Amino acid sequence: MESQNSLRRQLIVRMLLVMLPLFILLWIMAYFSSQYFINAAFDRSLTRRTYALADRVEVIRGRVHLDISVAAREMLAFDQEDLLFHRVIDPQSRVIEGDLDMPQLPGNKGLEPGQLIVYDGIKDGEKVRVAAFSLSLKGTSARGAVLVQVGETLSRRSALAKRATLAIVIPMLLMTLTAAAAIAYGVGRGLVPLRRLRDRLSAREAFDLSPVPLEGTPAELRPFLDEINSLLLRLSEAVDAQSRFVSDAAHQLRTPIAGIRAQAEAALVNAQPDDAQHALLRIAQSTQAMGELVQKLLILARVDAAENTLRLVPLDGVELVREIAREWVPQALSKGVEIGFDSRHSDAPLVGDAQLLREMLANLIDNALRYGGTHISLTVHRTEQGVTWCVADDGPGIPESQCAAVFLPFFRLSGGVDGAGLGLTIVQRIANLHGAKVRLDSENGATGLRICVDFPAGAT
Ligand SMILES: Nc1ncnc2c1ncn2[C@@H]1O[C@H](COP(=O)(O)OP(=O)(O)OP(=O)(O)O)[C@@H](O)[C@H]1O
Ligand SMILES: [Mg+2]
Repeated sequence: MESQNSLRRQLIVRMLLVMLPLFILLWIMAYFSSQYFINAAFDRSLTRRTYALADRVEVIRGRVHLDISVAAREMLAFDQEDLLFHRVIDPQSRVIEGDLDMPQLPGNKGLEPGQLIVYDGIKDGEKVRVAAFSLSLKGTSARGAVLVQVGETLSRRSALAKRATLAIVIPMLLMTLTAAAAIAYGVGRGLVPLRRLRDRLSAREAFDLSPVPLEGTPAELRPFLDEINSLLLRLSEAVDAQSRFVSDAAHQLRTPIAGIRAQAEAALVNAQPDDAQHALLRIAQSTQAMGELVQKLLILARVDAAENTLRLVPLDGVELVREIAREWVPQALSKGVEIGFDSRHSDAPLVGDAQLLREMLANLIDNALRYGGTHISLTVHRTEQGVTWCVADDGPGIPESQCAAVFLPFFRLSGGVDGAGLGLTIVQRIANLHGAKVRLDSENGATGLRICVDFPAGAT
């Protein structure tokens, strides 16, 4: 379940990524600062021992001696962990006591009388720390200064520095791990509502599109749930519209089928050839109406399906509309209607699917022929926003109150020739696919209907 994208994992990884360099930095700082303080303390004790040894220097008749007991000498060399060593040199550079092998003074320079320094050195391949004191012999029977040096190896210092570092770093490490565990636990707890939500959603029926309840969900999830709910709402509206459409379509199909059946039965019982002929004629009309309805339903289904496979290509609106107008001329003439085409521009580029646009215009011209008067005019214009196609006729037009309703599937104005009521629905869906808007344009004082489709700019 814990995927690469898990919140919990991301939080912990990010926290550790920040903590790790901090942790290393802390470790280094802790090590160096504890070493600094431990060195200071140990150097002080080394200095004390150097002064104590210098105290034992005596001058007897101009000669330098060291008045030191065997026990004190042992003390000077004994330590549980570190190796201790010392050396005393008289003004004539003779070693009068201690180790011959003593790390040189830094810079190989001598000390001023009374000066004390503490320095690092190497003895027998091991790092050591040495305190050196130059004891002035002024006021005695000898002259010059005695150099007293006391040194020690560093085992105790480094062991202590390590321990002090760990004393700082280990609590810090524990704190980091505890924080990581707390985050992991907190995120786990925080995700409980999400898991509950998932269970609730997975337990739903396929057609349950009711909104997801918001109570008990964390505030961070609200915007996300609001979006899901609004999607569910749109989906349920779409499903409702779809099922309404299916039942309307079934109802529309039932009427001609019932007509056909009634006519067929009438023809069967009717012995008169004229009556039978009449019934057959009605049957032919009903089948034709049914054929047209089925044809429109198929077109609508094709338009809806085209949404996913739509390929809009650049084309010229002037040329396309002029060509379609020409194709409709014979049919219009047979009904005594005149079709005119007009454009202020030589071309009107737009992007679209020529076949769907042809279908759209065919529906508009078909309506104008069916419901209009004796003149149809097609216009194509370039506008600031894009390209506008209009189909205008000089018929009775559509009352303003019905202007929105005519785009609904199966809606027809009462009275009038047969039709399925799907033409303008198809027009609108095709326009939507092109990002275009359909509007009924009424010119003041003018009769008839003008339907315009505004295509957005976007053609190259
Ligand atoms: N040019 C027009 N003039 C007057 N009324 C119109 C015009 N175009 C459409 N209408 C009205 O709008 C209604 C809906 O038109 P639509 O094209 O959607 O359906 P239809 O023409 O009835 O059927 P179909 O086009 O599916 O065969 C029509 O029934 C008609 O009453
Ligand atoms: Mg129509």
